Formats: sequence, structure tokens, C-alpha cells
Amino acid sequence: MAIQICVPKEVRAGEQRVALVPDVVNRLAKQDLLVNIQAGAGELVGYADRDYENASIVHSSSDLLGKGDITLVVNPPTDEQIEQLKDGSVLIGFLNPHSDLERFTKLKQKNISAFAMELIPRISRAQGMDALSSQASIAGYKAVLLASNILGKFFPMLTTAAGTIRPSKVLIIGVGVAGLQAIATARRLGAIVEGYDVRAAVKEQVESLGAKFVDIEIKAEGSGGYARELTDAEKQQQQAILAKHVAAADVVITTAAIPGQPSPRIISTSMVEAMRGGSVIVDLAAEGGGNCELTKIDATVLHQGVKIFGPVNVPSMLGNHASELYAKNLLNFLELLIDDGTINIDLEDEIINSSLITHAGSIHHTAIKEKLEGAS
Ligand code: NAI
Repeated sequence: MAIQICVPKEVRAGEQRVALVPDVVNRLAKQDLLVNIQAGAGELVGYADRDYENASIVHSSSDLLGKGDITLVVNPPTDEQIEQLKDGSVLIGFLNPHSDLERFTKLKQKNISAFAMELIPRISRAQGMDALSSQASIAGYKAVLLASNILGKFFPMLTTAAGTIRPSKVLIIGVGVAGLQAIATARRLGAIVEGYDVRAAVKEQVESLGAKFVDIEIKAEGSGGYARELTDAEKQQQQAILAKHVAAADVVITTAAIPGQPSPRIISTSMVEAMRGGSVIVDLAAEGGGNCELTKIDATVLHQGVKIFGPVNVPSMLGNHASELYAKNLLNFLELLIDDGTINIDLEDEIINSSLITHAGSIHHTAIKEKLEGAS
């Protein structure tokens, strides 16, 4: 029997994205996979049901999820959706493996093989499946546009009959995937850009984009290409030097994150108070607690003339391209998972093994298992 792939309409408040776009459905259909899309799933990103020519449109969530051998989601499923999943089926999506872990107990009880896109290792072979990167790149781009919308200034230098406008200064803190895209976008808009990160390897990347690297001489490379948490002494050293650069900036965009940990606090209230009135901070780490002490999630705070914006789910704001890239990440993952028309969960494969959280009625992922069931 051909594999049934199901895509529900996302239920998270404010979510626009959809896990599969019509072009990717067409490619799956060519591989003899049967794709089922919940009615209206793509409408917020511009895809009407009729655009999914090679999929069956299913209206009820329970009918849809009840028949899926593989369910593809953007956000973690709700308890109700988990109940509706077919026993023993495969679930793939952003599953938020660092919080609300009880969800995995429920998935285990339903015998689901659940793959978290966040846990796909950052190795060359997995680049085409790296949904964290595809979505972070979108967030970095959009963060600059959000900042430019709030800032009462031009980004580029302008020479006008009424006088010359100086270019805005933009500081990007945290130069991973989102930060690099933010630098590139701010440069394209004509701003003078600086970038700062605790990973020394970033210096060259920042400079290759035409921005200046703020060097604080703290080297905090962690594992897997990520940063480690700073010691208290390092945090003080960082703040002392960074404060001058923050004060000089018209726009600060922060993206600093440490997987599984609250976002590091980098910008203190006193640093904000040293900024010029009218300056803007866009804190992309708002959902993890924020890189700025004053950030409020999904709100713009006005503090002594400085606006601090903590947007939520920024990739969803660019929902069409975010869905397209995410769907391609899923397609590449499915190519690894489906072998000759059958689902093959090869635990010897590093990508499969690292991203699999629940499988065959147990918690497969060691760290999550320890958190839920204690060390064995
Ligand atoms: P992320 O979203 O976890 O963090 C964003 C940035 O914040 C990182 O560059 C991190 O170093 C920085 N940061 C953390 N704490 C900080 C602090 N206290 N002060 C200043 N900056 C701080 O990172 P992201 O964007 O997901 O990726 C990080 C790195 O992972 C990449 O730059 C790359 O080296 C690696 N990577 C490798 C890939 C591959 O090989 N396929 C694909 C994507 C990323």
C-alpha cells in the first residue's frame, strides 16, 4: 500500500506557515506517495486548496490524522492532534525538544516515531534538511525590515537638496544564520553595520559581508558549532565593551541563543539608557526570554525614548517563502526516510538517530529520556 502523507492546518495562534507547498506535493506524488492536506492549510501563505492539484483535501482533522502514515507539521501537535494520530505512525516537524516534554510521553504512548527538525545534526550531508537554518535566515532578514519600520530614520546615506542625511548605524549581536542574513540585509539597505558574536570563527564571515566585527576577545565556542554560556566575569567584560557600540547604534538586532537554555542577557537596562532617543532594538531571542533585559514578548516597550521590540515567530511573517524552504527541508528528510516506497527508520544513520525522539513505544532520545524518566 502506498504511503499516506498528511499535512494538518497549523493551529498555533498567529501561525501562517504550512508544512508542504504545492510544488513539493507534486514532487512527492511523482514518487507514488499519497498526500493529504487539511482544507485551508495553505491559504494564509497564498495557496488555496485547488492549488494542491496532486493532493486529496480532507476537511476533518481526525479523518486526516487518523490515516497518515507520516504526518508533517510546522509546530508541535496539540494533545488533541496527538490523540488523533494513527497509532505507530511517523511525525516530523519542529517539536520543541527543550520544553513541554510531557508531549513526548503522549507520543510514546501512541507508539509514534517522532522526529524533531530542531535535532537534525549540523553536518554537511544534512544541510538540505536544516530547517533551523532556513527559518533563521528568514528571521534575520525580516528583523531588519521590522527595525526599519519602527526607526524614524533612513538606513542609507542620502544627499538631498535640503541637506545630507547620515546613514544609520546597525549593530547585530549574535551572528549565526539569522545574524549573517541580518547583516547582509542591513548592508543592502545602505546602513553602516557592525556584528558581534562570542564565536571567533564569525569575524571573517562578518567582514566578508562588508561589516565591522566587534572583537571582545572572549572565545566561547561550544559543541556542534554553537556557543557555550559565558562565565560571570566574561559577561561583565562583554557588557563593558559592548555598551559603547550599543550606545552608538541607531538599531540593534539581537539573535543570541544557546540551545536548550534561556537566551543570554546581553543588553542591560543601563545600556539601553545610554542609547540615543529614537533608537530601536529588535530582539529575535524574545521567545527564549530575550537578549535585552527590557524585552517583552510580542510587544514594543518604550524606555527613555528607545523602542524595544520582541517579535514572536518571525519566520511566519514571511510565510510563503518560509513554507517553501521548510517544505524542501522536509522533502530532503523524507528522501532519507523512505526507501523504495517503504518507511525505513535506520537507527544507524546519524541524522535519523539524532532527530528521533520517540520510537517503538519508548523515548529514544537519551537526554529527553533522562529528563522524563530519570537516568537509567
Ligand atoms: P543560534 O541561533 O543557536 O545562536 C545565534 C548566535 O548567537 C550564534 O552565532 C551564537 O554563537 C551567538 N551567541 C550565543 N551566545 C552569545 C552571547 N552571549 N553573546 C553573543 N553571541 C552569542 O545559532 P545558529 O544560527 O543556529 O547557528 C550557529 C552556528 O551553527 C553557525 O554559525 C554555524 O557555525 C553552525 N551551523 C552549521 C551548519 C552546518 O554545518 N550544516 C548549519 C547551520 C549552522
